Amino acid sequence: MKRVVALALAALLGSPLVARARETEKHDYLLHCSGCHRPDASGTPGTVPSLFGIDRFARSEEGRAYLVGVPGVAQAPVSDERLAALLNWLVREHAAARADEAALPFTAGEVARLRAAPLRDPAPVRARVIGTTEGIGEEKQ
Ligand code: HEC
Repeated sequence: MKRVVALALAALLGSPLVARARETEKHDYLLHCSGCHRPDASGTPGTVPSLFGIDRFARSEEGRAYLVGVPGVAQAPVSDERLAALLNWLVREHAAARADEAALPFTAGEVARLRAAPLRDPAPVRARVIGTTEGIGEEKQ
């Protein structure tokens, strides 16, 4: 029985269905995020943050509210399901921590709740979560 499950899982992971889902997330990123964060997610120092290591925001409640609440995320013109998938893909792609320390994935329900309250002033929330506003255009003040 275990072998059947393992085989089914292996087949699913290698299947075109899973590959197509990843393509959707990449496509959503390129369409709705890369104009500011750049196609490789490196951002523009001092104005648009790089997304490398964004898993650091996914490890606390306030961090998750920040991640979903920044205007570019909360107001992205995609469904809650697609946004959750996009964030999970981004966190996987650009995590600083090892895979076995992966942050909990976002669900559509959590995204719906958090994006309903977009952050008007993200900087102080970011400072509380990771202790700095460096990288989002506030450091020179
Ligand atoms: C119009 C430009 C723009 C677009 C489009 C945009 N962002 Fe952003 N993003 C920013 C800026 C600027 C910040 C810094 C916080 C703020 O002022 O909103 C930010 C912050 C973030 C952060 C927090 C990172 C940190 O280090 O503080 C994440 C995560 C993020 N954006 C992801 C996304 C994703 C995912 C998309 C697409 C769905 C997206 N953004 C679309 C400009 C943009």
